[in-house]
Amino acid sequence: MRRKRYDRIAPLYDILQSPMDGAIRSWRERLWSRIQDGKVLEADVGTGRNFPHYPEGTEVTAVDLSPRMLARARGRAARMGPGVDLREMDVQHLAFPADSFDFAVASFLFCSVSDPVKGLTELGRVVVAGGQILLLEHMRPRGHFLGRIFDLLSPVTSRLFGFNLNRRTLQNLRRAGLTLERAEDLDRWGIVKLVVARSVKEVGMRDRTEKPVGAFILSLLAGIWMIGSGIVMYGWVGNTSWMWGHGMMGGTSGGLVSLGPG
Ligand SMILES: C[S@@+](CC[C@H](N)C(=O)[O-])C[C@H]1O[C@@H](n2cnc3c(N)ncnc32)[C@H](O)[C@@H]1O
Repeated sequence: MRRKRYDRIAPLYDILQSPMDGAIRSWRERLWSRIQDGKVLEADVGTGRNFPHYPEGTEVTAVDLSPRMLARARGRAARMGPGVDLREMDVQHLAFPADSFDFAVASFLFCSVSDPVKGLTELGRVVVAGGQILLLEHMRPRGHFLGRIFDLLSPVTSRLFGFNLNRRTLQNLRRAGLTLERAEDLDRWGIVKLVVARSVKEVGMRDRTEKPVGAFILSLLAGIWMIGSGIVMYGWVGNTSWMWGHGMMGGTSGGLVSLGPG
């Protein structure tokens, strides 16, 4: 459904974007300037409008749901030459193993993904522990009055263009288990925000499904250690009670008292 809609929009996307280019270009610049070296996932490459902002020294894999958007991104990549690996993929079902990237970036994606919490959870999964998730997104504005207007308009934009005006993306981030580090308002109403979140993973909870052999070996070692320490403890307790019994630790149960200075 969304794929078809974006396939239809693809030929017009760049034309529709150009009137807003001035502001959006500087926002994109700010978004990408937060990235240093490392492996980066761009979760909705669209027609490749972020290519000019890819920082040097990064290895970018960029995905999108719409084949027609991707086709345009391929054309742009051929003209501009950023070394980017382009793939058709849904952010809600990423075909990458856990901990594949240092950063995940999305711009104007989570207003249209049908299950944003699932998409954000996937970004958290494929980014390493402590890795950053960077978003440039419009969302439900702060004020009560403006928020209500966006609530009323959202079903219309969703039906006509496939995006929602009233997504609560900051709450969705938390629901996806990500840690919100920073949310910067890019306009005075708090509609467009630059968001920095982190993927937090507990040691031992990571990638359970991806490395069953590693997990098995770890559990085996833990088991051996527990049994071994149990045997040692049992032996020690056995020995000391034998020693207590034979008066080798200062007598019978009153032995501790007899160890005192008197
Ligand atoms: C508003 S455009 C933004 C494109 C680009 N990020 C930009 O800033 O110009 C939204 C893009 O998200 C893609 N998209 C929508 N749902 C998606 C999903 N579930 N997984 C991946 N991409 C999706 C659309 O195909 C479209 O290219």
